[in-house]
Amino acid sequence: MSVTKFVVLLILFDLSFSLGQSDIKVFNLKDYGAVEGGNVDISQALLRAWNDACKWKGRSRVEIPRGATYLVNPVQLKGPCSGPTGFRNMGTLKAPRGLRGQSWIEFQYIDRLAVYGTGIFDGQGPPKMAGPNLPTLLRYSFVTNSKLQKVKLINSQSTHFHLFKCNKITIRKVVISSPGDSPNTDGIKIGNSEGINIVDTTIASGDDCVAIITGSKNITVTRVVCGPGHGISIGSLGTSPNDQVEQVVVQNCKIFDAMNGLRIKTWATNMPGRINNILYQDISLINVDNPIIIDQNYCPSRTCSKANSGIQISDVKFINITGTSQTIDAVNLQCSGSNPCKSIELKNIDITYVKGVNNTVSTCSNVREQAFGLQIPKPCI
Ligand SMILES: *[C@@H]1O[C@H](CO)[C@@H](O)[C@H](O)[C@H]1NC(C)=O
Ligand SMILES: *[C@@H]1O[C@H](CO)[C@@H](O)[C@H](O)[C@H]1NC(C)=O
Ligand SMILES: *[C@@H]1O[C@H](CO)[C@@H](O)[C@H](O)[C@H]1NC(C)=O
Repeated sequence: MSVTKFVVLLILFDLSFSLGQSDIKVFNLKDYGAVEGGNVDISQALLRAWNDACKWKGRSRVEIPRGATYLVNPVQLKGPCSGPTGFRNMGTLKAPRGLRGQSWIEFQYIDRLAVYGTGIFDGQGPPKMAGPNLPTLLRYSFVTNSKLQKVKLINSQSTHFHLFKCNKITIRKVVISSPGDSPNTDGIKIGNSEGINIVDTTIASGDDCVAIITGSKNITVTRVVCGPGHGISIGSLGTSPNDQVEQVVVQNCKIFDAMNGLRIKTWATNMPGRINNILYQDISLINVDNPIIIDQNYCPSRTCSKANSGIQISDVKFINITGTSQTIDAVNLQCSGSNPCKSIELKNIDITYVKGVNNTVSTCSNVREQAFGLQIPKPCI
């Protein structure tokens, strides 16, 4: 072999090493005395594996072995860590039945976290009734430059995945699933977070597929399949002063068998705040009760405040929204009497009534809207 060939081979060898996974230090749960089978709590073993991975100076990951099932009591897996830290789940982690508390598995204060694998996080819910103190299945708090990829989050007692005070998170190819009648079991809830991308994800959670609540900015939802459930929601806002959501893009999504399609909701309180710069584009809605809805008098119970909402909604675009409605009220824009919606644009809307006999209608109050192109139903103006 010539010297050049040898050098080339050496370089290739070296490249394959640094590009491959071989430089990741793996901390396998089975080396920490975790008992398989799903009957014995392994949370202490998981914490020890996590702490070792987190401390490792360089790339590391915790490995949940393929095919294994483990019972896990609530855990908080904390950073900061010394390097990029992975959590690869190839097996099944199960919560104890009837669990109470804020969350089941929570990652906190971590930069460059990757939770991935083809495994399952099973909350062993849903509960029979919504109630206080039911735990979120998976929570990221103060997590940055991180991802959640490919895993399955199933049967949560409450929200499946909650992001709180996070920045730059990508959620890709995740599957979220719970029975269609589960109470209060949102798919992904985003609050006080920025730069969140949800891509190629399937959500059937019973409640909102994606709920974007106050403090959220620069959120994109792309190629998400949602249903059955309550659709993609912004809000509810208006429970504290200066609630706001801005820069949201929802594109190429399909929502089916849902109570709502694209919904923005605020409580009827006079707390000031705003929702602005929202784009919904290329959305297919199939069999949805309320396909396009802005509700500034949101009141799921009978005892809500009945003030004019102090939340200013502006710059909301609905472009190329097609499909079928279960009710004739396909477009329903109920804005605040004191802060009418500004710059609402509807372009190429084609939503027909499922039962075919009557045309769908638009209902609006306190809204300045502009409409272009095809419009089924006829716009309000
Ligand atoms: C939005 O978030 C992405 C990360 O998801 C980031 O790369 C981008 O710079 C952010 N854009 C703005 C305008 O903040
Ligand atoms: C409208 O959206 C659908 C997806 O719902 C997409 O397949 C189609 O190409 C879009 N049409 C235009 C003209 O962009
Ligand atoms: C269809 O429209 C007619 C006339 O407006 C109304 O009487 C009837 O109740 C509507 N049917 C449905 C199913 O909404």
